[in-house]
Amino acid sequence: MSKVLVLHGPNLNLLGTREPEIYGSTTLADIAAMLKERAAQEAVELDSIQSNYEGKLVDEIQQAKANGYDYIILNAAAFTHYSIAIRDAIAAVDVPVIEVHLSNIHTREEFRHHSVISAVVLGQIAGFGVDSYMAALEVVLRRLRAAGKTGKSL
Ligand code: DQA
Repeated sequence: MSKVLVLHGPNLNLLGTREPEIYGSTTLADIAAMLKERAAQEAVELDSIQSNYEGKLVDEIQQAKANGYDYIILNAAAFTHYSIAIRDAIAAVDVPVIEVHLSNIHTREEFRHHSVISAVVLGQIAGFGVDSYMAALEVVLRRLRAAGKTGKSL
């Protein structure tokens, strides 16, 4: 069975109450459930992990291959803009990563415009709220399907 890891960075545990005008009112648990349900429709296993700690995210990325993950969907949150450690971890491992953001980082404060991880990911989806994650999952599912690695043929 194919496996997808969804990694959420700092402060995303507060989704639902954190600046809802920017990030929406859906909680992280809701997002995790929606993603898991969609993946399950294709017989794909999906796990979600949130951490406020850079090192924990680095550890998860490093171990993703050994833990059997085919893809990582990553919202590195604020680390997006300055964590060379997360960028290097992505570059070091053989697991493709899709970068997601709830908000459109390119239309917000200047310091959010640059992502240090963008150069080492498959692509970035930003600005669609929860649908950024759902769209990233659709990309992953299409790729798994093309590789004959989903449980169903759509
Ligand atoms: C975010 C955007 C980042 O700039 C911010 O630090 C976050 C969330 C987003 O999902 O829109 O924490 O990654």
